[in-house]
Amino acid sequence: MSENIDVILKEGRKFNPPDEFVKNANVTRSEYEKLVRLGKDAPEEYWAQAAKELHWFKTWDKTLVWDPPKAQWFVGGKINASYNCLDRHLKTIPQKTALVWEGEPGEVSTWTYRELYEQVTRLTASLRRLGLKPGDCVAIYMPMIPEAVVAMLACARGGFPHTVIFGGFSAESIKDRVQDAEASVIITADFGYRKGSQIKLREQVDKALKDCSTVKYVIQVQRTKSGQITSEGNRSFSKPACFNSNGNALDWHELISSISHEETQTQGYAEELDSEHPLYILYTSGTTGKPKGIIHTTGGYLVEALQTTKQVFDIKPYDLYWCTADIGWVTGHTYIVYGPLAAGASIFMYEGAPTTPTQDRFWAMIERHHISILYTAPTAIRAFMRLGTEPLRGRDLSSLRLLGTVGEPINPEAWMWYRENVGRNHCPIVDTYWQTETGSIVISPIPGAVATKPGSATFALPGYDVDVVDKKGEPVPPGGGGYLVIKKPWPAMARTIHKDPERYKKQYFSEYPGGVYFTGDGARKDEDGYLWCLGRVDDVLNVSGHRIGTMEVESALVSHPKVAEAAVVGRPDSLKGQALAAFVTLKAGVVQKGDTDSLNAMANELKAHVTKEIGALARPDDIRFTDALPKTRSGKIMRRLLRELATSGQVKGDVTTLEDLAVIAALQKDGEE
Ligand code: PRX
Repeated sequence: MSENIDVILKEGRKFNPPDEFVKNANVTRSEYEKLVRLGKDAPEEYWAQAAKELHWFKTWDKTLVWDPPKAQWFVGGKINASYNCLDRHLKTIPQKTALVWEGEPGEVSTWTYRELYEQVTRLTASLRRLGLKPGDCVAIYMPMIPEAVVAMLACARGGFPHTVIFGGFSAESIKDRVQDAEASVIITADFGYRKGSQIKLREQVDKALKDCSTVKYVIQVQRTKSGQITSEGNRSFSKPACFNSNGNALDWHELISSISHEETQTQGYAEELDSEHPLYILYTSGTTGKPKGIIHTTGGYLVEALQTTKQVFDIKPYDLYWCTADIGWVTGHTYIVYGPLAAGASIFMYEGAPTTPTQDRFWAMIERHHISILYTAPTAIRAFMRLGTEPLRGRDLSSLRLLGTVGEPINPEAWMWYRENVGRNHCPIVDTYWQTETGSIVISPIPGAVATKPGSATFALPGYDVDVVDKKGEPVPPGGGGYLVIKKPWPAMARTIHKDPERYKKQYFSEYPGGVYFTGDGARKDEDGYLWCLGRVDDVLNVSGHRIGTMEVESALVSHPKVAEAAVVGRPDSLKGQALAAFVTLKAGVVQKGDTDSLNAMANELKAHVTKEIGALARPDDIRFTDALPKTRSGKIMRRLLRELATSGQVKGDVTTLEDLAVIAALQKDGEE
């Protein structure tokens, strides 16, 4: 019987971790308190201790050099992320399962640490054979198949920064990212499965390639062969078939098996890289029309990926850990690949959609593989809630011992549903707040040490100086709301925006002085000091846990020849968190006033256009046509009014600064019809 959520919230009820969990926890309450104290009094010492867990070819000379906004961690140290995720474990756990994978059609494959190592070294040797040197960028546009993990680790091994592009992005988005990153190789697959269909990734790459002059090679996995571990072979290296003017197509399987054992030994080595060597570029949406390339470097990022994985996910040797994110997002980078593999964990990876072919697919996989830790998004939980408990009935989920959420605020109802129905009231829930820019989790309960409240990410992890401040940068009193900031540098923080350091400074470090990082999020601190992360306060939206810039969607809309002007805002959505509402002014004479059929057709055309320009994730939910957009006297679009309108169809408050009150009146009238 579900407890009344209003009562729980009103009472400020806390949920203590079960005794059994506490008894075996990686971090106990008293250890947690010690870590918090050390993190507060001597943060550099705290992080240096964490760094010692990793293998360094050469130890660092200085833990931190901080010249805001430029941070350098473990300066002078030499390290390799792939070495730490693979070679380091070969001495102790070579036969341990590193990865269990299930394809959407149902294939299963299991890779030991040794097998993963062998594939990765082969691919690194292959990339070296193609002429790649440390610093050369590789784009990865792949489905959720084991080769995606191999590709990332092979790049990290050679010092080739990767840029993983989410498989749902369109050719245009691939082009933008590949051009900006100047990638010389793209690794892709012919297709991947999603909702029973074949999503043709290679086709999108082909389209994008026409405008990607830096790309010399395209390496393609054949999906039907994916997950199969290629046996050692000595086949000769077939000359690549000509692909087009600037790309040679190589078959992944041929390429890998053409590398001899000797060549793997001599050319598959892990490059000894500076701690600050770029590990990857990950594009994420901001407040301008184009996504920004967030750069993460090696040493500091890996230190925190490992530390937070162990602390927050309480990883044990016997766990099978499943993070349901796609490798195209930062969650997939840090908590599918780098953190868990650095920790020597066994990870589970699934290719497809949560309810394909049946609504109980997730639960069936948890039962089948005895998954013990599940880390997913609130949107997924809300989608499961809508399906009711029937798909869960009869499923043995007793292997689960810890649950996590990420990517967007979780509403207390969804939190309670997750706890009761998936966690059977005995799994702690870690609500983890972080961002692409932070690189790893910033705010989260440590499950054996912190009591949770539904909807709150609780406290900052040890080592972080997080606060909620007002406009002037003053901390808000308990019970107050304000802006979420991080006051001191941390090892996994982004180093810059690729090719745009000024934007990096302006975006994150100009709101408050003294090297204080502004997250762009609003938060509330309650009377007990618990943090409640409320979502973005800028023009960035969070749709189903995916970050989308309103300006990006606006740019896509105005690139349509019939659109004169567009404004995009978010409105609350009970499933997706936020939905995209677009207000569009068409060019004169495009559609006759009152011609509803033509307007409906136009709305569909524009939705398809945005899908083509960015990807289906940015497809507007609503499109409303208007003769003009409400603007201030200085010409700024009045987004607050549009947000209100999109949400309620009504506008309240002061509109006297409006250039044209008639515009708002007309929009309101349409909303009433
Ligand atoms: O608004 C916050 C929200 O997601 C944003 C970061 O998005 P992205 O860079 O795509 O990374 C998502 C995965 C780490 C944040 O600025 N967000 C993330 N986690 C939470 C959250 N909002 C509330 N609670 C969370 N646990």
